[in-house]
Amino acid sequence: MATALVTGGTSGIGAAFARALAARGDDLVLVARKAVRLEEAAAELRSRHGVTVEVLSADLGNRADVERVAERLQSREAPVDLLVNNAGFGIKEALTSPDLSSYDEGIDVMVRAVMVLAGAAGEVMRDRGHGAIVNVGSTAGYATMGGYSALKAWVSVYSESLAVELRDSGVTVTVLAPGWVRTEFHERANIGTSKIPDFMWLDADELVAECLRDVARGKVISIPSRRYQALIFLARHAPRSLVRRASVLLSSGRH
Ligand SMILES: NC(=O)c1ccc[n+]([C@@H]2O[C@H](COP(=O)([O-])OP(=O)(O)OC[C@H]3O[C@@H](n4cnc5c(N)ncnc54)[C@H](OP(=O)(O)O)[C@@H]3O)[C@@H](O)[C@H]2O)c1
Repeated sequence: MATALVTGGTSGIGAAFARALAARGDDLVLVARKAVRLEEAAAELRSRHGVTVEVLSADLGNRADVERVAERLQSREAPVDLLVNNAGFGIKEALTSPDLSSYDEGIDVMVRAVMVLAGAAGEVMRDRGHGAIVNVGSTAGYATMGGYSALKAWVSVYSESLAVELRDSGVTVTVLAPGWVRTEFHERANIGTSKIPDFMWLDADELVAECLRDVARGKVISIPSRRYQALIFLARHAPRSLVRRASVLLSSGRH
Protein backbone atom coordinates (compact mmCIF):
# COMPACT_ATOMS: atom_id res chain seq x y z
CA MET A 1 0.00 0.00 0.00
CA ALA A 2 1.50 3.33 -1.10
CA THR A 3 0.90 6.85 0.17
CA ALA A 4 1.18 9.99 -1.97
CA LEU A 5 1.32 13.60 -0.81
CA VAL A 6 -0.06 16.08 -3.36
CA THR A 7 0.31 19.84 -2.89
CA GLY A 8 -2.48 21.84 -4.49
CA GLY A 9 -4.50 18.62 -4.55
CA THR A 10 -7.90 20.36 -4.43
CA SER A 11 -8.06 21.85 -7.92
CA GLY A 12 -6.94 21.41 -11.52
CA ILE A 13 -3.85 19.30 -12.13
CA GLY A 14 -3.34 18.45 -8.44
CA ALA A 15 -6.93 17.23 -8.12
CA ALA A 16 -6.39 15.09 -11.24
CA PHE A 17 -3.30 13.55 -9.56
CA ALA A 18 -5.36 12.89 -6.42
CA ARG A 19 -8.13 11.18 -8.44
CA ALA A 20 -5.71 9.03 -10.44
CA LEU A 21 -3.70 7.98 -7.39
CA ALA A 22 -6.79 7.18 -5.32
CA ALA A 23 -8.23 5.21 -8.26
CA ARG A 24 -5.14 2.97 -8.25
CA GLY A 25 -5.50 2.49 -4.48
CA ASP A 26 -2.94 4.90 -3.06
CA ASP A 27 -3.66 6.59 0.26
CA LEU A 28 -3.33 10.36 0.08
CA VAL A 29 -2.20 13.42 1.97
CA LEU A 30 -3.72 16.52 0.36
CA VAL A 31 -2.14 19.93 0.96
CA ALA A 32 -3.67 23.34 0.10
CA ARG A 33 -4.70 26.53 1.92
CA LYS A 34 -8.53 26.29 1.96
CA ALA A 35 -9.52 23.85 4.73
CA VAL A 36 -13.17 23.44 3.69
CA ARG A 37 -12.22 22.59 0.12
CA LEU A 38 -9.62 20.12 1.38
CA GLU A 39 -12.25 18.35 3.51
CA GLU A 40 -14.68 18.21 0.57
CA ALA A 41 -12.05 16.79 -1.79
CA ALA A 42 -10.97 14.24 0.82
CA ALA A 43 -14.54 13.10 1.54
CA GLU A 44 -15.22 12.61 -2.18
CA LEU A 45 -12.04 10.55 -2.67
CA ARG A 46 -12.66 8.42 0.42
CA SER A 47 -16.22 7.57 -0.57
CA ARG A 48 -15.43 6.95 -4.24
CA HIS A 49 -12.22 4.94 -3.85
CA GLY A 50 -12.19 3.69 -0.23
CA VAL A 51 -8.69 5.06 0.40
CA THR A 52 -7.41 6.91 3.45
CA VAL A 53 -7.10 10.66 2.83
CA GLU A 54 -5.39 13.01 5.29
CA VAL A 55 -5.63 16.75 4.84
CA LEU A 56 -3.00 19.31 5.73
CA SER A 57 -4.07 22.93 5.46
CA ALA A 58 -0.90 24.90 4.71
CA ASP A 59 0.10 28.06 2.88
CA LEU A 60 3.28 27.12 1.03
CA GLY A 61 4.20 30.79 0.94
CA ASN A 62 4.64 30.58 4.72
CA ARG A 63 7.88 29.04 6.00
CA ALA A 64 6.39 27.54 9.18
CA ASP A 65 3.65 25.87 7.12
CA VAL A 66 6.23 24.48 4.66
CA GLU A 67 8.11 23.06 7.65
CA ARG A 68 4.94 21.26 8.85
CA VAL A 69 4.51 19.65 5.43
CA ALA A 70 8.22 18.69 5.37
CA GLU A 71 7.80 17.02 8.78
CA ARG A 72 4.86 15.01 7.42
CA LEU A 73 7.01 13.90 4.49
CA GLN A 74 9.74 12.75 6.86
CA SER A 75 7.43 10.69 9.10
CA ARG A 76 8.91 7.22 9.62
CA GLU A 77 5.66 5.83 11.09
CA ALA A 78 3.47 6.84 8.13
CA PRO A 79 5.88 6.96 5.18
CA VAL A 80 5.10 8.90 2.00
CA ASP A 81 6.13 7.04 -1.16
CA LEU A 82 5.30 9.71 -3.75
CA LEU A 83 5.52 13.49 -3.45
CA VAL A 84 3.75 15.61 -6.06
CA ASN A 85 5.00 19.19 -5.74
CA ASN A 86 2.17 20.75 -7.74
CA ALA A 87 0.83 23.87 -5.94
CA GLY A 88 1.40 27.03 -7.94
CA PHE A 89 -0.18 29.90 -9.78
CA GLY A 90 0.28 32.10 -12.83
CA ILE A 91 1.96 35.51 -12.66
CA LYS A 92 1.77 38.01 -15.48
CA GLU A 93 3.14 41.07 -13.63
CA ALA A 94 5.73 42.97 -15.70
CA LEU A 95 9.29 42.44 -14.53
CA THR A 96 9.67 46.23 -14.39
CA SER A 97 6.55 46.70 -12.24
CA PRO A 98 7.11 48.77 -9.08
CA ASP A 99 5.26 46.03 -7.17
CA LEU A 100 7.01 42.66 -7.45
CA SER A 101 5.17 41.07 -4.50
CA SER A 102 3.51 38.43 -6.71
CA TYR A 103 7.04 37.25 -7.56
CA ASP A 104 7.98 37.10 -3.87
CA GLU A 105 5.02 34.78 -3.36
CA GLY A 106 5.80 32.87 -6.56
CA ILE A 107 9.40 32.28 -5.46
CA ASP A 108 8.22 31.11 -2.02
CA VAL A 109 5.56 28.70 -3.36
CA MET A 110 7.02 27.52 -6.68
CA VAL A 111 10.74 27.61 -5.86
CA ARG A 112 11.46 27.56 -2.13
CA ALA A 113 8.64 25.20 -1.07
CA VAL A 114 9.41 22.87 -4.00
CA MET A 115 13.07 22.70 -2.92
CA VAL A 116 12.36 22.24 0.81
CA LEU A 117 9.68 19.57 0.27
CA ALA A 118 11.56 17.64 -2.42
CA GLY A 119 14.72 17.81 -0.29
CA ALA A 120 12.89 16.50 2.79
CA ALA A 121 11.21 13.74 0.79
CA GLY A 122 14.41 12.87 -1.09
CA GLU A 123 16.38 12.46 2.14
CA VAL A 124 13.98 10.04 3.79
CA MET A 125 13.17 8.16 0.55
CA ARG A 126 16.89 7.65 -0.16
CA ASP A 127 17.32 6.16 3.33
CA ARG A 128 14.42 3.81 2.58
CA GLY A 129 15.80 2.95 -0.85
CA HIS A 130 12.64 3.79 -2.78
CA GLY A 131 10.23 6.60 -3.59
CA ALA A 132 9.26 9.05 -6.30
CA ILE A 133 9.13 12.83 -6.54
CA VAL A 134 7.19 14.77 -9.19
CA ASN A 135 7.75 18.50 -9.54
CA VAL A 136 5.25 20.35 -11.71
CA GLY A 137 7.07 22.74 -14.02
CA SER A 138 5.63 24.12 -17.25
CA THR A 139 6.20 24.30 -20.97
CA ALA A 140 6.46 28.04 -20.20
CA GLY A 141 9.84 27.19 -18.67
CA TYR A 142 11.14 26.62 -22.21
CA ALA A 143 9.93 30.06 -23.36
CA THR A 144 10.59 33.64 -22.22
CA MET A 145 7.14 34.71 -21.02
CA GLY A 146 8.08 36.79 -17.99
CA GLY A 147 9.18 35.79 -14.51
CA TYR A 148 6.81 32.79 -14.51
CA SER A 149 8.92 31.24 -17.29
CA ALA A 150 12.05 31.86 -15.23
CA LEU A 151 10.54 30.23 -12.11
CA LYS A 152 9.42 27.17 -14.08
CA ALA A 153 12.82 26.92 -15.84
CA TRP A 154 14.26 26.77 -12.32
CA VAL A 155 11.89 23.87 -11.45
CA SER A 156 13.12 22.02 -14.52
CA VAL A 157 16.86 22.45 -13.88
CA TYR A 158 16.40 21.84 -10.14
CA SER A 159 14.52 18.58 -10.79
CA GLU A 160 17.16 17.29 -13.18
CA SER A 161 19.84 18.19 -10.63
CA LEU A 162 17.96 16.36 -7.87
CA ALA A 163 17.60 13.36 -10.19
CA VAL A 164 21.38 13.39 -10.63
CA GLU A 165 21.92 13.63 -6.86
CA LEU A 166 19.53 10.73 -6.20
CA ARG A 167 20.70 8.50 -9.06
CA ASP A 168 21.07 4.83 -8.11
CA SER A 169 19.26 5.47 -4.80
CA GLY A 170 15.96 3.87 -5.79
CA VAL A 171 14.31 7.31 -5.74
CA THR A 172 13.10 8.77 -9.04
CA VAL A 173 12.61 12.46 -9.78
CA THR A 174 10.35 13.63 -12.61
CA VAL A 175 9.61 17.16 -13.77
CA LEU A 176 6.21 17.42 -15.43
CA ALA A 177 5.95 20.14 -18.08
CA PRO A 178 2.26 20.69 -18.81
CA GLY A 179 1.03 22.76 -21.72
CA TRP A 180 -2.25 24.65 -21.37
CA VAL A 181 -4.75 22.83 -19.15
CA ARG A 182 -8.21 24.20 -18.29
CA THR A 183 -8.09 24.71 -14.52
CA GLU A 184 -8.59 27.67 -12.18
CA PHE A 185 -5.03 28.78 -13.00
CA HIS A 186 -5.84 31.34 -15.73
CA GLU A 187 -8.82 32.93 -13.98
CA ARG A 188 -6.95 33.21 -10.68
CA ALA A 189 -4.08 35.03 -12.44
CA ASN A 190 -6.39 37.04 -14.71
CA ILE A 191 -4.76 35.52 -17.78
CA GLY A 192 -6.88 35.71 -20.95
CA THR A 193 -7.36 32.42 -22.79
CA SER A 194 -9.64 33.36 -25.69
CA LYS A 195 -6.75 33.42 -28.19
CA ILE A 196 -5.46 29.97 -27.26
CA PRO A 197 -6.53 27.55 -30.03
CA ASP A 198 -8.62 24.56 -28.94
CA PHE A 199 -6.04 21.99 -30.06
CA MET A 200 -3.48 23.43 -27.60
CA TRP A 201 -5.57 22.53 -24.55
CA LEU A 202 -4.73 19.33 -22.69
CA ASP A 203 -7.09 17.29 -20.53
CA ALA A 204 -5.89 17.22 -16.89
CA ASP A 205 -6.72 13.51 -16.40
CA GLU A 206 -4.91 12.47 -19.59
CA LEU A 207 -1.94 14.69 -18.68
CA VAL A 208 -1.66 13.04 -15.27
CA ALA A 209 -2.11 9.49 -16.63
CA GLU A 210 0.78 10.08 -19.06
CA CYS A 211 2.92 11.61 -16.32
CA LEU A 212 2.32 8.66 -13.97
CA ARG A 213 3.36 6.27 -16.76
CA ASP A 214 6.58 8.32 -17.12
CA VAL A 215 7.12 8.20 -13.34
CA ALA A 216 6.72 4.40 -13.36
CA ARG A 217 9.40 4.24 -16.06
CA GLY A 218 11.70 6.50 -14.03
CA LYS A 219 11.64 9.19 -16.72
CA VAL A 220 13.16 12.49 -15.55
CA ILE A 221 11.35 14.82 -17.97
CA SER A 222 7.66 14.23 -18.63
CA ILE A 223 6.08 16.19 -21.48
CA PRO A 224 2.60 14.77 -22.08
CA SER A 225 1.19 14.79 -25.64
CA ARG A 226 2.97 14.57 -28.98
CA ARG A 227 2.14 18.19 -29.85
CA TYR A 228 3.87 19.61 -26.79
CA GLN A 229 6.79 17.18 -27.22
CA ALA A 230 7.23 18.57 -30.76
CA LEU A 231 6.91 22.18 -29.58
CA ILE A 232 9.45 21.74 -26.81
CA PHE A 233 11.82 19.95 -29.16
CA LEU A 234 11.63 23.03 -31.41
CA ALA A 235 12.03 25.42 -28.46
CA ARG A 236 15.17 23.56 -27.34
CA HIS A 237 16.77 23.46 -30.77
CA ALA A 238 15.65 26.72 -32.38
CA PRO A 239 17.80 29.86 -32.09
CA ARG A 240 16.90 31.68 -28.86
CA SER A 241 16.00 34.79 -30.89
CA LEU A 242 13.16 32.76 -32.46
CA VAL A 243 12.02 31.51 -29.04
CA ARG A 244 11.92 35.12 -27.81
CA ARG A 245 9.90 36.22 -30.86
CA ALA A 246 7.41 33.36 -30.36
CA SER A 247 7.18 34.33 -26.67
CA VAL A 248 6.17 37.89 -27.62
CA LEU A 249 3.33 36.47 -29.73
CA LEU A 250 2.22 34.04 -27.00
CA SER A 251 2.37 36.73 -24.28
CA SER A 252 0.32 39.20 -26.32
CA GLY A 253 -2.60 36.74 -26.30
CA ARG A 254 -2.75 36.65 -22.50
CA HIS A 255 -4.25 40.06 -21.74
N1 LIG B 1 -3.19 25.12 -15.94
C1 LIG B 1 -2.19 25.27 -16.78
O1 LIG B 1 -2.37 25.60 -17.98
C2 LIG B 1 -0.76 25.01 -16.32
C3 LIG B 1 0.25 24.89 -17.29
C4 LIG B 1 1.54 24.62 -16.90
C5 LIG B 1 1.84 24.46 -15.56
N2 LIG B 1 0.85 24.58 -14.61
C6 LIG B 1 1.24 24.40 -13.21
O2 LIG B 1 0.42 23.38 -12.66
C7 LIG B 1 0.33 23.54 -11.23
C8 LIG B 1 -1.12 23.43 -10.80
O3 LIG B 1 -1.86 24.46 -11.41
P1 LIG B 1 -3.40 24.33 -11.82
O4 LIG B 1 -3.49 24.74 -13.24
O5 LIG B 1 -3.93 23.01 -11.42
O6 LIG B 1 -4.00 25.52 -10.93
P2 LIG B 1 -5.29 25.64 -9.99
O7 LIG B 1 -6.47 24.96 -10.58
O8 LIG B 1 -5.40 27.11 -9.70
O9 LIG B 1 -4.87 24.88 -8.63
C9 LIG B 1 -3.88 25.35 -7.79
C10 LIG B 1 -3.82 24.52 -6.52
O10 LIG B 1 -2.70 24.97 -5.73
C11 LIG B 1 -3.15 25.35 -4.43
N3 LIG B 1 -2.33 26.47 -3.99
C12 LIG B 1 -2.16 27.67 -4.61
N4 LIG B 1 -1.36 28.47 -3.88
C13 LIG B 1 -1.03 27.78 -2.76
C14 LIG B 1 -0.27 28.08 -1.60
N5 LIG B 1 0.30 29.28 -1.41
N6 LIG B 1 -0.13 27.12 -0.65
C15 LIG B 1 -0.73 25.91 -0.81
N7 LIG B 1 -1.46 25.58 -1.87
C16 LIG B 1 -1.63 26.50 -2.83
C17 LIG B 1 -4.64 25.69 -4.61
O11 LIG B 1 -5.41 25.54 -3.43
P3 LIG B 1 -5.72 26.77 -2.38
O12 LIG B 1 -6.09 27.97 -3.20
O13 LIG B 1 -6.78 26.26 -1.47
O14 LIG B 1 -4.41 26.95 -1.65
C18 LIG B 1 -5.05 24.65 -5.64
O15 LIG B 1 -5.31 23.42 -5.01
C19 LIG B 1 1.00 24.89 -10.93
O16 LIG B 1 2.29 24.68 -10.45
C20 LIG B 1 1.03 25.59 -12.28
O17 LIG B 1 2.08 26.53 -12.35
C21 LIG B 1 -0.44 24.85 -14.96
